[in-house]
Amino acid sequence: MTVQNIPNKILNWYDNNKRDLPWRKKVSKSQKEYFTLVSEFMLQQTQVNTVIPYFENFISKIPDLKSLSKVRDFKLMKCWEGLGYYSRARNLKKSAKLIINEFRGKLPDNEESLKSLPGIGEYTSRAIMAIAFNKKIIPLDGNVERVLKRLFYLKNEKEISKENLYKKKSFFGETNRASDYAQAIMEIGALICKPTKPHCNLCPISVNCKSFKKNDFEIIKINKLNKKKFFEAKIFQNKKNNYYLLKNRQFNFLKDMPIFPMNEIPRAKFKNHIGKRINIKMSNMDMRIAITMKNKLPEKKNGFFVDVKDLSNLTLPSFTKKILNTIR
Ligand code: ADE
Repeated sequence: MTVQNIPNKILNWYDNNKRDLPWRKKVSKSQKEYFTLVSEFMLQQTQVNTVIPYFENFISKIPDLKSLSKVRDFKLMKCWEGLGYYSRARNLKKSAKLIINEFRGKLPDNEESLKSLPGIGEYTSRAIMAIAFNKKIIPLDGNVERVLKRLFYLKNEKEISKENLYKKKSFFGETNRASDYAQAIMEIGALICKPTKPHCNLCPISVNCKSFKKNDFEIIKINKLNKKKFFEAKIFQNKKNNYYLLKNRQFNFLKDMPIFPMNEIPRAKFKNHIGKRINIKMSNMDMRIAITMKNKLPEKKNGFFVDVKDLSNLTLPSFTKKILNTIR
């Protein structure tokens, strides 16, 4: 059995076994993009079965991106009531506004722009790229990660790194159904390749699965605690409301690009931070940034002020954009 056969087997299985989820309905392209955006926000911290009725109600009350960008907060919160993690709803509306105003009403179809939107991180941007835009990109949630680790029998730290798992693109083969394919892998992870007792007898690719051959289903995890880094970003605006930025000399990536003054802080300080926080993955780092509004210029004085109007003319790293989008 060759790797080339895997996509066909997976897609056949998906066509016959997929759950009938409301965001998988056949709709127009722009509706598909909207459905994907809303469902991925809801699915970030909530199980599929819980999300279904909320998604259906949300779409009936707030049917498209434009109405979402203008929805009254009271109505938005009513639609989200009971789902929890309410910042998701606020970020969803903020993102809708930014898409309307800065992306001419069209959900951006590249990861960098998607990640600049509040509430969209590495996983959600990859899920949107795959599901809404049919790109051969692997959205790596816990389910998909498990399927890949088992199928290819990945055990050591290098093999199970995200970078390596993302590269398992051979897995897509020649399919032009990348959207269905990404969802099919999620579905196999959720329904068959269970954490403790995988249902290998129902799996369309068990004959290709190295873990099945070896009868070893153990999943090795990287200790995530070691990979997270915590920062505080200090936001200062002068009387003209211009933002104070620095040229990046702090991180080895994105050299000299404009960033807010930032310093690394202990995990406990981050956890106790009152105020906005964002997560973003840059290079090999899982950054957690606590945002503090300052009324005094931060210590370093080698920065520069930028007028809000001129921000769009600057090339900003996505974490700087994300901070801006979160505070504005
Ligand atoms: N979890 C996250 N995104 C999902 C999707 N599109 N379908 C099913 N489960 C998901």
